Amino acid sequence: MNHDIKEILISQEALAARVQELGQEISEKYKGKELLMIGVLKGANVFMSDLMRAVSVPIQIDFIAASSYGSSTESSGVVRIVKDLDYSIEGKHVMIVEDIIDTGLTLKYLYDNFSARKPSSLSIISLLDKPERRKADIKVDYTGFIIPDEFIVGYGIDYAEKYRNLPFVATLKPEVYSK
Ligand code: IMP
Ligand code: MG
Repeated sequence: MNHDIKEILISQEALAARVQELGQEISEKYKGKELLMIGVLKGANVFMSDLMRAVSVPIQIDFIAASSYGSSTESSGVVRIVKDLDYSIEGKHVMIVEDIIDTGLTLKYLYDNFSARKPSSLSIISLLDKPERRKADIKVDYTGFIIPDEFIVGYGIDYAEKYRNLPFVATLKPEVYSK
């Protein structure tokens, strides 16, 4: 697996340090409240596992799986919920936890869908953000790292369902894509 890697963009240490900072920021912001973190499967799984342990307020978790209609590389903005939430979010402080925001179309759909379910508050956190590629108008409340428009893998994020278990964020050698 490691011989497929071109460059490590964000090291394991840098990820851990940033997650701690975000955890502290969230703990202060939600002091005295309970927070429901909703992870967007599958990519946000690793980030959310680390993030929730860096937060000191009581946390509940749930997951949603969404798939976007359209080509495999470009999301269309039309989203199908493949696995919905287990519980109602009405009256709760909810945070959507994403791995990476690209066009923002998937997240825009989820944000609007969750808003309609009447949470007390709704925020968005994303580990990574590629603002250059944004198409949807969404406000991201917490961002781990802004990255350039390059395809990345690792720390939960895949290419063709592989590389999720890399402990860092990296780019892949071009020949990997032509295999
Ligand atoms: P969008 O913001 O609707 O365009 O889609 C975001 C989703 O596309 C993310 O949650 C990822 O699943 C996927 N994605 C976007 N950029 C990358 C990348 O660089 N590597 C792997 N997956 C990506
Ligand atoms: Mg995703």
